[in-house]
Order: sequence, then structure tokens, then C-alpha cells
Amino acid sequence: PIQPIVDALSRPLKDLRISVTDRCNFRCTYCMPKEIFGSNYSFLPHEKILTFEEIERLVRIFSQLGVEKIRITGGEPLLRKDLEELIHKIALVDTIRDIALTTNASMLTLQRAQRLREAGLKRLTVSLDSLQDNIFGSMNGVRFPVQRVLQGIQAAKEAGFTSVKVNMVVQKGKNDNAIIEMAEYFRGTGHVLRLIEYMDVGTTNGWSLQDVVSANEILLKISSRWPLEPIPARSPNDVAKRYRYLDGEGEIGLITSVTNPFCHGCSRARLSSDGKVYTCLFAADGLDIKTPMREGASDKEIKEILCSLWQHRRDRYSEIRTDATVALPKVEMSRIGG
Ligand code: GTP
Ligand code: 5AD
Ligand code: SF4
Ligand code: SF4
Repeated sequence: PIQPIVDALSRPLKDLRISVTDRCNFRCTYCMPKEIFGSNYSFLPHEKILTFEEIERLVRIFSQLGVEKIRITGGEPLLRKDLEELIHKIALVDTIRDIALTTNASMLTLQRAQRLREAGLKRLTVSLDSLQDNIFGSMNGVRFPVQRVLQGIQAAKEAGFTSVKVNMVVQKGKNDNAIIEMAEYFRGTGHVLRLIEYMDVGTTNGWSLQDVVSANEILLKISSRWPLEPIPARSPNDVAKRYRYLDGEGEIGLITSVTNPFCHGCSRARLSSDGKVYTCLFAADGLDIKTPMREGASDKEIKEILCSLWQHRRDRYSEIRTDATVALPKVEMSRIGG
């Protein structure tokens, strides 16, 4: 029996973003800067991380509260061994109609992409910030070559993911000159380039408003070269604003968390790999659901905890962001996957 719930601002609970690991083989400057996430950084130990059985159980309970869409994130989710097994378990939950994955594609071989698809993964999003090795290499922090990410995208396509989303975080002075080249490369491929305003997530990336390129500037850049027109959102809760090329070469998405926040439609809960539930990407802390679960709470008890958490939710960080909120304590992006 599904009992859909709404929060204190009347927003339904529709999506669950699940981080399966806090580790990553990249050190993107805007997410896990290597000065902080160095060899001394302590990642979560194995026993603190939810098992696939625990995650599956939570997905079933969340689905009874209205969740229909799952996104698997990290850190880098493909670092988690046998991730396909988890996807298969989630795909068997009958009210879940969409399962997607956000990855850096560094480990996305054809075989892995095929196994993910067979397990029930419906959609893939790949992060890529530039087509130039010098820019991308310095942004990913480990000099990872562009070509290998492109190979991952190609592998996804061959495995049947015909429309991959490509996430590009735009940072002023770093990769804003790469926008046109990225747009040109992905136009006409069926893949959807999504340009993301750099956000003040976590506390380590040294964010400043000066480093943000607004979605309007991005739109102007691309549309002065190839005219674009807005197209309707697929769902009222979606993050990206969609535009299509007038010449029929496909669409792009703009993610405007800084200049045009979308909290009013935010139906997303996040589950960290250590079993905390966050009701906002910018929350200081989450609600520990692992402890009651490991202490033997029943499904009904867990459902009541989650229900009460959501019903009290009032988060709308991006709508109230100021210079002062930037310094507030916030969970790291790598813990909750964006
Ligand atoms: P779809 O299921 O395809 O709509 O995916 P998505 O756009 O929700 O997911 P993705 O992981 O690709 O996220 C794209 C960008 O939007 C990333 O930079 C995320 O951090 C950001 N993002 C996703 N959800 C939220 C949100 O609720 N609030 C804010 N501020 N940013 C978000
Ligand atoms: N601002 C905007 N997007 C970010 N991502 C990671 N850190 C940030 C940030 N500070 C993006 C990643 C990935 C997605 C899940 O979030 O590039 O594509
Ligand atoms: Fe890793 Fe993605 Fe964070 Fe980059 S943005 S460090 S690839 S988790
Ligand atoms: Fe949702 Fe928080 Fe993002 Fe607003 S800032 S859209 S409430 S996650």
C-alpha cells in the first residue's frame, strides 16, 4: 500500500538519491579537492557502510511513501563491487519506475555497461567538464584523460543507453571557454549536455559567487551560435531546464541552482552510504536510519521515522542563499552524491 506524503511546504517525496560509497578515484576541485581529500583523509570503514540488503529494504520502505525514482551516486558508484546486484534488487521493487546512475565513467567498460543495463539500470549520466586534457586534467585533480571518459560514453551507447546525459560543471576562468566546444561535440549525438552552475556544496571547495557563470550567460553563448528554444519539463520536480536546438540537433539542459533555484519543486531525499537520510543537498547533517535498522526496528517503525522526517521538512537552501549562508556547516558532496 502506497501512502504518498508531503513535506511542510507541500512537496511530495518522489525521488531517492542513494550514495553507495564516499570514495572516488577523481579529485575534482569543486567536489573533493586533493588538498583535503589526501592520503590522510579517513573514508568510511566497511562496517559503517550500508549493505545491499539494507539499501534494498530502505528502498522498499521509501517506495511505500511515494518514491518512484532512484538515482545511484557516490563518490564514484562504480567503485562499489557488484553494484549490478543492488540495481537488480531495486529493479524488482514494483513501484520503482526509473533507476539512473551518475558516474565519472572512468571504469565504464562495455562489459560493465552491459551488466548494468541487464540488471535494470535505465539511464546513465556521465560527468565531463571539458574536451581539453589540460583543463579536464586539472579539474579532475588526477590528470584523467578526456579520451577515456569519451570511451565510457561510447561503451554506454553500445550497451543500449542511447541518450546519455553529460554533466558539465561550469567554473569561471576554468572551463567557461570550453562550453561551445562541448556543445558542438554533443550536438546531434542523442546525448544531452547539461551545464551546471557551480554550487557552494560542502565546505571544502572555496566557492565564491565570482566563480559562477550564470545559466543566462551560458544560454546566450550557445544560442548565439546555434539558436535554441525552451521545451517543457518532463516532470514538475525536474532539476534541469530544457532547451532544444532549432536545427533539430537535439537538446541541452541548464541547472540553475544559484541564479534560479528550484526548491519549490524539490521532491528529493538523499541516503548516504553510512545510512543517513538528508532532506537537502546543503544540509549540515542527516538523520541516522542505520542505527535503528541495525538495532532491530521493524519496517513500520522505520517508515514512521522517515515519514515524520519528511513531514517536518522545510529545506529550501538555494532560495535563501546569501554570502552568510555559504559558511554554514554542510555535508560534503562526496558523501551524498550531489
Ligand atoms: P535526472 O533524473 O536526469 O533529472 O537527474 P538529475 O539532474 O537530478 O541528476 P544529476 O545527478 O545529473 O544532477 C545534476 C546536477 O544537479 C548536479 O550538479 C547535482 O548536484 C544537481 N542537483 C541534483 N539535485 C539537486 C537538488 O535537489 N538541489 C540542488 N541544488 N542541486 C541538485
Ligand atoms: N557544483 C555543481 N555541481 C557539482 N557536482 C559536483 N560538485 C559540484 C558543485 N560544487 C556535480 C558533478 C556530478 C553531479 C552529480 O554533481 O559533476 O556530475
Ligand atoms: Fe568524484 Fe564525481 Fe566528486 Fe569528481 S564530482 S570527485 S568524479 S564524486
Ligand atoms: Fe532541494 Fe535543497 Fe536543492 Fe533546494 S537546495 S532543490 S531544497 S536539495
